[in-house]
Amino acid sequence: MRKRILTGDRPTGQLHIGHYFGSLQERVKLQDEFDTFILIADVQALTDHFHEPELVRRHVFEVVLDNLAAGIEPEKVTFVIQSMIPEIAELTVFFSNLVSLSRLRQNPTVKTEIALKKELFGNSVSYGFLGYPISQAADITVFNADLVPVGEDQMPQLEQTRELVRKFNRIYGETLTLPEGKYGIFPRVKGLDGKAKMSKSLNNAIFLADSPTQIEAKVQGALTDPQKLRVNDAGHPEICTVFTYHQMFSPGIEELAGECRAGSRGCRFCKAQLTAKIIETLAPIRERREAFAQNLSEVKDLVSEGTARAKRVASETLNRVKDAMTIQYF
Ligand code: TRP
Repeated sequence: MRKRILTGDRPTGQLHIGHYFGSLQERVKLQDEFDTFILIADVQALTDHFHEPELVRRHVFEVVLDNLAAGIEPEKVTFVIQSMIPEIAELTVFFSNLVSLSRLRQNPTVKTEIALKKELFGNSVSYGFLGYPISQAADITVFNADLVPVGEDQMPQLEQTRELVRKFNRIYGETLTLPEGKYGIFPRVKGLDGKAKMSKSLNNAIFLADSPTQIEAKVQGALTDPQKLRVNDAGHPEICTVFTYHQMFSPGIEELAGECRAGSRGCRFCKAQLTAKIIETLAPIRERREAFAQNLSEVKDLVSEGTARAKRVASETLNRVKDAMTIQYF
């Protein structure tokens, strides 16, 4: 039996190069070796987009297309729409008895997100948002996933999942698979503005579906070393966004840093070189995306079949869970 992977995306926007280097590339590599489940986490997306469900709806298939564009092969993976698997919600309820409120408040990723969402939550975060890591634990365990390839920001979620699984198994007997996290090589991709995180809402992202013109304009506006004003000024590549992107798109391009420090490389040239490289890398991705988008009804069938298969797995797990909890009555 092949080991199983479960990973997920929130359908709140198109996927960008941060997703690509943080996790998509990794799942493309792993799809041959593992039975791969990709969850379109619409329920989780609603924890902070409850007021705009149509935005979530609109992005469900966009996110599937982005995965296919990145190299996910339809016959190798199982796409699952989260809201169509009510077993996830059931398991979330059982899990929620096994975690304290203070433990939920300690999750560093959730803390950062709450701070960024002041406008939405004010000073009182919702029960659903604070608890989404519990529902994520259910996403993972309901499909008996062995491995969860995600970006580094999801590490706390994985830790919480492992705690919940251990606790469940301790109380009710060995029932659930203990999953492991697998983190990408580029854990955190900076935004074009140099901010720590690339994100649609911060308006600092290069999307996988961006056209060459859009890419060019975005790279032109990217933050470089603010102290390097003239072509021949010595630069500090370690603080330059453009340099970090060069490292992602052209691994091993270290001599570039030396040229920048020596003042023999201007930012304008450096950006033009990066633009060309990004356009070249994203071109086949964009082409694949367009080809799949032309056949949207086939893509929808694929997701519908995947969800049906996933539903069978989830329902078996819930049977085992209820047996273990002695709440199987008939
Ligand atoms: N929280 C993840 C993110 O924001 C998305 C996600 C939902 C997920 N469910 C998951 C990731 C299960 C891994 C496993 O990117």
